[in-house]
Amino acid sequence: MKIAVFGTGVVGQTISEKLEQLGHEVTMGTRNVEQALSRTNKDSFGRPAFGEWHSKHPKIKVAAYGDAAAFGEFIVNATNGTGTLPALEQAGKKNLAGKVMLDISNPLDFSKGMPPTLFVCNTDSLGEQIQRTYPELKVVKSLNTMNAYIMVNPSLIPEDHTVFMNGNDADAKSKVKDLLMSFGWKEKNIIDVGDITTARGTEQLLPIWVRLYGSLKNPMFNFKIVVARPD
Ligand SMILES: NC(=O)c1ccc[n+]([C@@H]2O[C@H](COP(=O)([O-])OP(=O)(O)OC[C@H]3O[C@@H](n4cnc5c(N)ncnc54)[C@H](OP(=O)(O)O)[C@@H]3O)[C@@H](O)[C@H]2O)c1
Repeated sequence: MKIAVFGTGVVGQTISEKLEQLGHEVTMGTRNVEQALSRTNKDSFGRPAFGEWHSKHPKIKVAAYGDAAAFGEFIVNATNGTGTLPALEQAGKKNLAGKVMLDISNPLDFSKGMPPTLFVCNTDSLGEQIQRTYPELKVVKSLNTMNAYIMVNPSLIPEDHTVFMNGNDADAKSKVKDLLMSFGWKEKNIIDVGDITTARGTEQLLPIWVRLYGSLKNPMFNFKIVVARPD
């Protein structure tokens, strides 16, 4: 499949690398291709700069958001929450219409330091804002409640654990579920929480995720939903 991945950070890189391994054609979207490829500083996790990472993945193309969106039959949104709507504006309504988007973004606001707050919550969510702004795009929020490496390699946690999905379109959720299963997710661990308004719940897991990270001092954990037996 031809897939556009928006965002060149750790999530964009990790997802793109996995999609390439699985045989998909990938184009990453960014604001400025030249600037993204010429970055030399390591990121905040000490990972190599994007240009260095990309030189090891030459089959993955890098393009402006609009060109990446036009290329993709399927879109992954891995942009920073505050940059998501600006990035989609650059992608262009017509390039998004009718497509499925796996939305991994979180509405985190770091402007007042750590821990971040949510810039939208309770009565709205970033997933809904995207869906409202682009009614012809089929938004499915998923994978946003765990570390990037676990997203594409769930067996890093040696027991069952949960990934959530929120979205309005059943067919789009089925496509995202297939993709998650190709990443190694077991069907029984994928929970369809409901329509896109339920993204209010999954995005609001981030404040607890951030506190757990502080307490465990290790980002390699995930949520596990356990249901009581019906007897
Ligand atoms: N890091 C994780 O493990 C993790 C886990 C779960 C969910 N998430 C969520 O996944 C998303 C990506 O995470 P990340 O850590 O990879 O993000 P990041 O490095 O903070 O940002 C990803 C990309 O967002 C784009 N961006 C930022 N501001 C923008 C703007 N104003 N307009 C257009 N694009 C803009 C940038 O693209 P260019 O600079 O290339 O233009 C950047 O490469 C976030 O929403 C995050 O909350 C992350």
